[in-house]
Order: sequence, then C-alpha cells, then structure tokens
Amino acid sequence: MKLADNKATLSFSNGSPSVEMPVYHGTIGPDVIDIRKLYAQTGMFTYDPGFMSTASCQSSITYNDGDKGELLYRGYPIEQLATSCDFLETCYLLLYGELPTASQKSDFDYRITRHTMVHEQMARFFQGFRRDAHPMAVMVGSVGALAAFYHDSTDITDPKQRMIASMRMIAKVPTLAAMAYKYTIGQPFVYPQNNLDYTSNFLNMCFAVPCEDYKVNPVLARALDRIFILHADHEQNASTSTVRLAGSSGANPFACIAAGIACLWGPAHGGANEAALKMLAEIGSVDRIPEFIARAKDKNDPFRLMGFGHRVYKNYDPRAKIMQKTSHEVLAELGIKDEPLLDVAMELERIALSDDYFIEKKLYPNVDFYSGITLKAMGFPTSMFTVLFAVARTVGWIAQWKEMVEDPGQKIGRPRQLYTGSPPRDYQPISKR
Ligand code: SDX
Repeated sequence: MKLADNKATLSFSNGSPSVEMPVYHGTIGPDVIDIRKLYAQTGMFTYDPGFMSTASCQSSITYNDGDKGELLYRGYPIEQLATSCDFLETCYLLLYGELPTASQKSDFDYRITRHTMVHEQMARFFQGFRRDAHPMAVMVGSVGALAAFYHDSTDITDPKQRMIASMRMIAKVPTLAAMAYKYTIGQPFVYPQNNLDYTSNFLNMCFAVPCEDYKVNPVLARALDRIFILHADHEQNASTSTVRLAGSSGANPFACIAAGIACLWGPAHGGANEAALKMLAEIGSVDRIPEFIARAKDKNDPFRLMGFGHRVYKNYDPRAKIMQKTSHEVLAELGIKDEPLLDVAMELERIALSDDYFIEKKLYPNVDFYSGITLKAMGFPTSMFTVLFAVARTVGWIAQWKEMVEDPGQKIGRPRQLYTGSPPRDYQPISKR
C-alpha cells in the first residue's frame, strides 16, 4: 500500500486535541484511513458492527467493484476466467498470483490429483453421523477431522507443510463432499479416479454406482467447473474473515477451513443458494410473485428474497449473469424444456429490478440466485448446494489464509467493543436477592 499525500484529521467539538491519521492508496478501489494509533492517541475506539466501513487487511488476491459490478481474481476479470480457464488453473492463479505455464499447470494438476484420496479410516468416521444429517454438518466435522489424520502438515510456520496442507484440502474436500452426499443417500463411497479431471472426478464420485458404468457428461462437467470458478474467492466475505480470524491465532489450516465452512452455512451467506431454491419452490408459480415481493418489502416481515442483495455489489453481481447463462446451457443439454423454477426466477428478477424498493436499495440478483436451478438440474439435492459452494471456496479460503500467515506484520485478530452492560456492583448472597 502507498502513503497518500492526503491525510485525515479527526477533531472533537469538546475541544479535545485533534488527531491526524495517514491515508493509504491500494492499487484500485477506496483509500483507507489508518486508525491503528487511534486508541493510543484518543482513548477511543471506532464503532463499525458488520464492518460496513472497515478494511480488516490488505490483500492482493481478489477485488470487487460493487458499483460497477466487477470481480477480479489477481487482476483478471471473472468473465474471462470463467470462459477461458478451468478450475485448477484458477486455483493456481489464486494461490500463486500468476496464471500457470503449461508445465506448471500439468504439475499442479498431477499433484492435486494424487492427493484426492482420504485416509481409509475416514470412511469409518462418517458412520458416526445419522444418515439424515445435513451434508454441511458432515463437512464441518470431516474437514476439521483432517487435522487428526494429517499431523505432518499442521505446522503453519513451515512453508512446505503449509503448501502440502493447501494441496491436501483442495484435493480432499471434493472427496469428502462426495462421501457426505453418498452417505446421506445410503450409497457406497466411490473412490477418486486419477484418469479424470478435477470436476469430472467429483461428478463421478457423486453419481457413479458399482452396478454399472457411469459416463460423466462433459457439458455438465464444464458447467460445474465454471460454477466452481465463480465461487472460488470473494475478498473478505464473512467465511473468509472467519478463516483469517481463526488462522490469526495460529490454528492449523484444517481447523481454519472447517470454521469457514461453518460460517458459509448461514442463509445470509453461502446457505442462500439452498434457501433461494426453496423460496422459488415456495413461490411455485409466476402469479404468486407479487405476494412474495410485498413480503420482502414489508418491514414487519423477516422474509427476504433469497439470492438478492449484497453487501458489496450495488449493481448486478457479475457471477449471477454467468450463472444465469449456465443454467440455460445445462437445462438445454438435459433436454429440460420447461423448468417452472427458472420461469419464476426470471420473472421475479424482471419484476424486482423494475420495483422502486429494489432500485432504491440497489438490490440485484447475486451468485446464489440462479445456481440452485442449475445444481438441481444436474441431480444434486438442495442440501448439497452449499457443500458445492464450500468445495469451490476452499481454494479462496486457503489463498487468503496463506496470505495472512505469510504477512510479517500479522497479529492475532482481537476486536474491541462498546460496553453497555452493568457498571461494577457487589455480589449479593442469595438470601438477599
Ligand atoms: C453471498 O460477502 C460476500 O462476498 C458474500 C458472497 C461471497 O461470494 O462470499 O458474495 C456470497 O453470501 C451472497 C449473498 C447471499 N445472501 C442472500 O442472498 C440472502 C439475502 N440477502 C440479504 O440477506 C442481504 O442482501 C445480504 C446479507 C446479502 C447483505 O446484507 P447487508 O449488506 O447487511 O444489507 P442490509 O441487510 O442492511 O440491507 C440493506 C437494506 C435493508 O433495508 P433497510 O433496513 O435499509 O430498510 O436492503 C434490504 C434490507 O431490509 N434488503 C433486502 C434484501 N437484502 C437487503 N430486502 C429484501 N430482500 C433482500 N434479499
């Protein structure tokens, strides 16, 4: 970051001495006011629940321009990566900062492919879950449990171990995700196949059965690979901030990623793709849309349009556009002519985008709005949608965790608070209460 000529001066109407704070530029995007010395100089904290105006770190991985609706991974626009890259190429870019050469790509693919098996004892680990457990509950447990099987890559001070743990998670999270799915439907686990590419291997582990050959549909594999690219990283979103905070204490990488999965599960975050499809199914038909739009606008109704709105994007989420195109491609490939959920989604989008409430609040479809329709058409149950988001986001979490751990100025994250509880008081024996 670069010191700006500009400075910020904080003055107080009660005559307390004013404070000057440096301003820094990034490469693009908003400048920051460096308040690190504010408490020492004023005895006061800033107050920003939800971090609406707070930069928690400097990062060179991903950039969102919320007003323009732009998303860059290491400077490359998401539209170009989604059409020209495959997911592992995007993983390499996020991890190392540059697109791989042909030999770097084949070496990276080789290394990831040969880490896709999990320790055989992990299969028994699954037996502890109820068959009707939500797959995200299984993922939180099983990814956290990787630390119990791969001790040799938990020393975060060792760059070699950091890289092995990173490779292991990018490679093994899809295997665990497929096992979580198979376990809930009572089918046998399917081992990874090294002759398949990353996403075809994942589809094979999810949908192959021992009784007959399974052929991965290349159009669906390409569509899912693109969906993984769209979900790979997204600045300091809630789950990434969770991973960074967990990692700031020196926790091992498997535990940090498990914490990220737990946070992603929330319906306001990664759980929105499951919630959005349930909402479209509840609306059911185009003629019921006005009723739900009214509920979304009603201050007394907690209902929100799932898959709409975003903390950063105050314009169309660029990923939603690509998701919508992908949903049409997948439905066409599968010969699904009339998908009522897609009709409802497109009409809901049309109505919402012409409604003053949504225009004034700058609420647009986000990445979760169309993804459910595509994933459902591919054969995934809604309970697996957020698991697929976690499979894709694992590389983003790891890239951000690695950047934080390798930052020489890294400190444990420890926010302060505005205390509004009881002033000091003395204990009263129960006889006197
Ligand atoms: C993801 O951060 C990321 O980058 C996340 C993500 C990623 O890749 O990591 O992009 C992935 O999580 C996408 C978001 C998925 N969530 C949803 O689709 C759930 C529905 N959306 C909302 O819950 C909401 O829009 C959030 C959580 C996404 C953003 O919430 P903010 O930024 O805290 O905004 P807000 O709740 O303060 O809303 C501002 C106003 C409010 O009205 P007022 O109180 O000002 O009158 O807009 C309204 C809200 O009521 N509003 C909505 C709405 N979203 C916001 N009203 C109806 N429907 C909605 N979806």
